[in-house]
Amino acid sequence: MIGKLNHVAIAVPDLEAAVACYRDVLGADVSAPKDIPEHGVTTVFVHLPNTTVEFVRPLGDKSPIAGFLEKNPSGGMHHICYEVTDIEAAVKVLAAKGMRVLNPKPKIGAHGNPVVFLHPKDFLGVLTELEQVPA
Ligand code: CO
Repeated sequence: MIGKLNHVAIAVPDLEAAVACYRDVLGADVSAPKDIPEHGVTTVFVHLPNTTVEFVRPLGDKSPIAGFLEKNPSGGMHHICYEVTDIEAAVKVLAAKGMRVLNPKPKIGAHGNPVVFLHPKDFLGVLTELEQVPA
C-alpha cells in the first residue's frame, strides 16, 4: 500500500533555531519559512536527496501542534508521511483492518494533495500521514 517516505515532520518551538541547526550545523538545504494559516502552522522544508524533513511551528491560537509542544516543550518528531497512489482505496483497506483513520474523508494537505492521518496507537506510537501522490 505505502510507497515512498514523503516527509518526516518535526514540531519545533523556535523555527529560527531549527533552521540554524539544520543549515549551519548539518549543512542541509533549508527553505524559507512559509505560513499555512489553514493548517495553523508555519513550515520550513529541509530538502534532502531522498526525502524531505518539515519543521512545523504553531501559527495562530488553534494550531493542531500546540498541544504536542505543550507536552514536548523542546520539540520532537510529530509525524511521518508515506505516499500512496489511491488514498480512498487505502482508507477502505485500513478501515477493514480495524485501523483508526482520524479523518476518513481526505483533506488537502500542505502540499496541495489529499491526506489522511492514522491513529498513533495503531501505528507503533507514531502519528502517520498518508498523502496521495500521482504514480
Ligand atoms: Co505532514
